[in-house]
This record gives sequence, structure tokens and C-alpha cells, in this order.
Amino acid sequence: MSIHTPPPVKKLPFLKLTVQDIRAAKNRTEPFLALTAYTAPIAQLADKHADVVLVGDSLGMVLYGMTDTLGVTLEMMMTHGRCVAQFCQRALCVVDMPFGTYQASHAQAFENCARLMKKTGAGAVKLEGGAEMASTIRFLVERGIPVMGHIGLRPQQVHVMGGYKVQGKTDDQIALLKKDAQAIEEAGAFAVVIEGTLEHVSREITQSITIPTIGIGASPACDAQILVTEDVLGLVPGAKAKFVKPYANLYQTADDAIQQLSADVKARRFPGPENLYIKTTPLKTK
Ligand code: KIV
Repeated sequence: MSIHTPPPVKKLPFLKLTVQDIRAAKNRTEPFLALTAYTAPIAQLADKHADVVLVGDSLGMVLYGMTDTLGVTLEMMMTHGRCVAQFCQRALCVVDMPFGTYQASHAQAFENCARLMKKTGAGAVKLEGGAEMASTIRFLVERGIPVMGHIGLRPQQVHVMGGYKVQGKTDDQIALLKKDAQAIEEAGAFAVVIEGTLEHVSREITQSITIPTIGIGASPACDAQILVTEDVLGLVPGAKAKFVKPYANLYQTADDAIQQLSADVKARRFPGPENLYIKTTPLKTK
């Protein structure tokens, strides 16, 4: 490059949302949308419509067919996180910390969160846990790792809870959930997912903290809603949880399309003339 050549223009992210923007969304009058993404096509869609794109460890079940999220590894989250983060032009990309990568000690949590952020380019991590994780959250935030909390039904605790059960059904449970939310807020989390609880519980929690609550199966009383995008699109066959509302049935659409392809191949309708490479005659020169 000569000294007269201007340096290449660095493309700056266009209106990229930060954790501060998401925290400030608490004061918006309308709730915001968060969506999960694990792959490039879904990441591009989610980034168009959601303020937060979460690379959830639900990918273990949705993409890999696992029976729960416990088998998800840091390497899986790095691979999918890197893929999704590069397509988040506007949304804040948050990556889940998988089971067993942050609970043992503050040092373990910091080391793995830092690795995940370096490898993926995501803007924040999410980890499950209430008051018992508050000191870890504080440790991480003070060292430069923005943290989203996750309370209520915590899928990584499935064996302790004895299944995926709605949380906050008794007064004692509600008091504990409120303590969890407040402890996470005080520790410095910028937002908190509330999963699987009753409307009045979500409302009480949402009103008692200054960071946004992002609900899944937790009623419209939250400051935002999050869903697994594959569930919204009807891409996953099988029974759906009550809180899921499919807005399309893409599994059926895909099934119909592949059935049509199979019939076309058998009847020699595919490939057709329009799918063939044509031999072009080179121009004659004198
Ligand atoms: O793993 C996940 O996708 C999640 C959301 C559904 C909140 O934690």
C-alpha cells in the first residue's frame, strides 16, 4: 500500500445494541422480543426482528436430539456461538454457559466465560441460577463479562427438580424466586430470564427489580418475551409446551417439499432441462 492510499474503511456495526441498551429497555412501554438462534439462517432472521439473540444450550435438544441440555459442551457453544454472533448486526448476541462449566468456582466460571466470549465475539453470557450464583455473577461482571441471569424453571437442574416443573406455586417458592431475582440484579446482571412460572409471580418480580425480565412460559407480565425460534416456526416435530405458539408449520412444509422431490426423481421430472449445464460453443475468432 502506498502512502497515498487511504487505509481501508473499517465497517462499524450499524446501531448495534449493547447490554446498556437492553438494561434501559426496562423503561420502554412495549415489551421487546428475544429469540434463540444456533445456525446462520436462523441468526439472520432473528437479528432482523429481535433485540437479543440467544445461542441457547437448548440447541442440545433442538439440534442434536439430546433428551436434556446437560450433555451440551463448551465446544458446541463456541461453534454455534461464533456462527451466530457474526450475523448479529443489530441484536445483542448472548451465549449460554453449558452445565458444569461455571458452577465449580469463580475462576472456572471466568476462564470459561472469557474463552466463550473470545471465541464467539458474543456480547454477553447467560447462566442459570439464583441467589447461589450471585457472587459468581459479581465476579464475572467486575472482570468485564456481562451476564444475563436465568431463574425459575432451570433446565440444567432437571434432575434436582424431578422434571420440567412450573416454579413459584407456593408462597415459600415465590419468596425464594424474588430473592433470586434481587440477588442477581444486585450482583450486576443486566437482564434476567424467568422461565416457567405464574403470571402474578412474574409481575411481582418484574415490578421489584430494575433490570428487564425476559419471560418464557412466564406470562405477558415480563418486560420481554423469548422463545426458541424453531418452535415459533414449527420446525421441530412432536408435542409442544403450552407456552409455545407456533406461527408456521415449516416441518410440514419441508415434509411436503421433500415428498414432492422424491416423486419427481422417481418419475424423472427432476432434474429438468432448466437444471442442466449447457455446452456453450466458443466464439470463432478470425
Ligand atoms: O437454552 C435456551 O434456549 C434458553 C431460553 C429458552 C431461555 O435458555
